[in-house]
Amino acid sequence: MIQSAKRLDTVQEYYFSKKLREVRELAATGKPIINMGIGSPDLQPPTKVIAAIQHSFNDAVAHKYQSYQGLPELRNAIAKFYHQKFNITANPSNEILPLMGSKEGIMHISMAFLNEGDQVLIPNPGYPTYTSVTKLVGAEPLFYELEETNNWQPNIGALETLDLTKVKIMWVNYPHMPTGTDALKETFEKLVAFGKKHQILIVNDNPYSFILNDNPLSILQVNGAKDIALELNSLSKTFNMAGWRVGMVLGNKNYINEILKVKSNMDSGMFYGIQKGAIEALHLSDDWFNQQNKIYEERRSLVFQLADKLNCTYNTNSTGLFVWAKIPTGKTSEEVTDAILYDKDLFITPGTIFGSQGEGYIRFSLCVSKEVINNAINRF
Ligand SMILES: Cc1ncc(COP(=O)(O)O)c(C=O)c1O
Repeated sequence: MIQSAKRLDTVQEYYFSKKLREVRELAATGKPIINMGIGSPDLQPPTKVIAAIQHSFNDAVAHKYQSYQGLPELRNAIAKFYHQKFNITANPSNEILPLMGSKEGIMHISMAFLNEGDQVLIPNPGYPTYTSVTKLVGAEPLFYELEETNNWQPNIGALETLDLTKVKIMWVNYPHMPTGTDALKETFEKLVAFGKKHQILIVNDNPYSFILNDNPLSILQVNGAKDIALELNSLSKTFNMAGWRVGMVLGNKNYINEILKVKSNMDSGMFYGIQKGAIEALHLSDDWFNQQNKIYEERRSLVFQLADKLNCTYNTNSTGLFVWAKIPTGKTSEEVTDAILYDKDLFITPGTIFGSQGEGYIRFSLCVSKEVINNAINRF
């Protein structure tokens, strides 16, 4: 048996990878499992997107290696999309890089900017990948706590009291997963000022910007943000294209160029047909967003009913694909979700997988139909 690299000692198998195996095993024994754990959209991508990939197969270049930077048409579509949605001007030739999902971007950015021993500010609670990638590249996570009492916004005053000399990157994710908290212009402004003051690259991971969100914001809207901030976005949630693996990073050309150095050494371009589909998605009218949000809104109100059955409290204005709910005191998050899994055959995510600040909370996914949510409600 060949010994694996030491870097693997720093990470464990992803919670969902393990837990979903257990959930599948339970389902295989005949249990009527309902999975409200993961945020993989169950709805179909836009029909135009599917048509575009289908029509692309016979194009002469369809099966060749593609450009490391993606098709110019795709970068133009991203530029137009960011201009329409956020009024941001980004040069498609050097300030935009298509990615295979925003998750890939987290690794590429970390490889491009972190040395061993550098520190990285990571939200607690937050998306677990920021931590695992930080450890995989030999850097050190420095968690910053988000609190419900502070509307899950970073406490910049508290951050200022830390020794920040080794901090190189700060991960930010608004709208925030798992809490569903909206982005605030004021928070982005403070973060950009903080990044400039301490020379910390601020990266906003923004894949939930168009789900149940009346006011999508980008960190790049802040004056001078491009000097110190990058933004990741993704088609996974907005266009129900999670399996397609299409994301993007936007920012200053010098930063983008460093990320490209990593990326061009790791893959050989995104499949042509996927890029063609992505271009169609980015050109869709507001009807698409309204139609999706109507479905998610109906589901969310049913999930609120389910949360009520569990005596939870929650924010009725939350954004994104999840409802984040506070459980009654007395049991841990994992005790609550395990009891629900074993007694009611319903899988919900314990807040603690997003960090210690997730204790006392559970997360419901909106990626299940109304019928299924009603079925879950009827089990209580
Ligand atoms: C906060 C956050 N960032 C990034 C991702 C990854 O998205 P993508 O499919 O674009 O890699 C997810 C997916 O669940 C997420 O929740």
